[in-house]
Parts: sequence; C-alpha cells; structure tokens
Amino acid sequence: MTIHPTPFPSHAAGDHKGMPYRSLEAIRNGLDERLKVVRTAKAWMAGDGRTLILGGPYGIGKSTVACWTALHWGTRDGSVSLPIGYATGADIGMVAPWEVAKMRCWTCEFAVLDDVEGVGDRRQQVKVEQILVHRHDQGLWTVMTTNLREHKFTSFVGERVVDRLWLDGAYQWVDGESLRRKRVDGESLR
Ligand SMILES: Nc1ncnc2c1ncn2[C@@H]1O[C@H](COP(=O)(O)OP(=O)(O)O)[C@@H](O)[C@H]1O
Ligand SMILES: [Mg+2]
Repeated sequence: MTIHPTPFPSHAAGDHKGMPYRSLEAIRNGLDERLKVVRTAKAWMAGDGRTLILGGPYGIGKSTVACWTALHWGTRDGSVSLPIGYATGADIGMVAPWEVAKMRCWTCEFAVLDDVEGVGDRRQQVKVEQILVHRHDQGLWTVMTTNLREHKFTSFVGERVVDRLWLDGAYQWVDGESLRRKRVDGESLR
C-alpha cells in the first residue's frame, strides 16, 4: 500500500528549503506506507506532541518522512499551510551558514532538523540545544532526525532539552535496513 502522491502544498511549491532532492523525489512518487518510519511519523502527527526525535540507522527513510511530515503538516486537517523550514545538523554547526540555518529553523512553525549527530562538534551541540529549547518554549513543531541512540542523544543535547521533551516530545528509535542498499542491489522496494 502506498500513500498516494499528493501535490506539494502551494506554499512549498518551487521552494523546498534545501530538502534532499532524493527525498523530494520519493515523496513525489508516493511513500511506502509499510515502512515503520512512516508509520511512526504518522502516529506522531495524529497525536498532540510538538517534538519528534526520529532515531535510526542510515537509509531507513528518516529524512524523507521528516520532509514529508513538514510538507503535509499544514494540510493534515485541511487547514491553512504553515511556514516550514529545513536545516541539517551540519548547517547548524557551521559558522557561515548559521545565520541561514537559523532563519530556516528558529521561528518557522514547523522545522525539520536533519542528521543531527555531531557528537564531538561542540558548536553543533550548543546550537542544537538552543534551537530545541527555543522552539519548545515557543510551542513550535519540530521533527529531528539522528542516528544517535537515546542515551547518546540525551548526552548530546543535554538535560535541559530532555527535561522539556518529557512534556510534549518523543524520542523514537526505528530499526530497519537501508533503502539505498536495496536499490543498489536492484531489489524492489515495494
Ligand atoms: N517512505 C519511503 N518510500 C519510498 N522510498 C523511500 C522512503 N523513504 C526513503 N525512501 C528512499 O530511500 C532513500 C533513503 O532515505 P532517507 O530518507 O535519505 O534515509 P535516512 O535519512 O534514514 O538516511 C531516499 O533517498 C529515497 O529514495
Ligand atoms: Mg537522512
């Protein structure tokens, strides 16, 4: 079963905020709904949590479903679309694009923070903590992807963030095989 391809909401048309093109392509073709990562994100969307930390190994579809969630968030109940933003952990860690990354993920109502896994990157760590605390305190929605297991994620973002996540956020680890590898081997994804 697939999630039927839906046109991008108008606010996103032609402006995908730097989202990975492979993810956009997969979204355009219709996501495979059987994937656990898709089911996890949809369950979170149906609830009233504000933050989702989506953990898992590389290639299971985290970035793709995070972008899908952002692009479809505003229309989930047929209401108006919301300002969305996308930045990677690497964007956030670097000095030069930090102002750009900040514009993308500081005040927008829905932000995807992708591939946040810069253990040992103190700059990334401090900024990610600031962003998460700010967004949480402002009641903004955030989906973050990471390959850090929960205990590593906890020490990466610090107690201040984790304490806030107890209230209306969730950390979810999803296991699975890399979809990229399946494609390379020529096996069918579906
Ligand atoms: N739900 C999905 N349905 C179909 N294809 C997908 C899905 N999620 C990901 N893919 C494909 O698998 C590739 C890897 O997914 P990606 O989201 O980049 O994984 P991760 O962020 O976990 O490393 C994508 O480029 C896309 O081609
Ligand atoms: Mg990714």
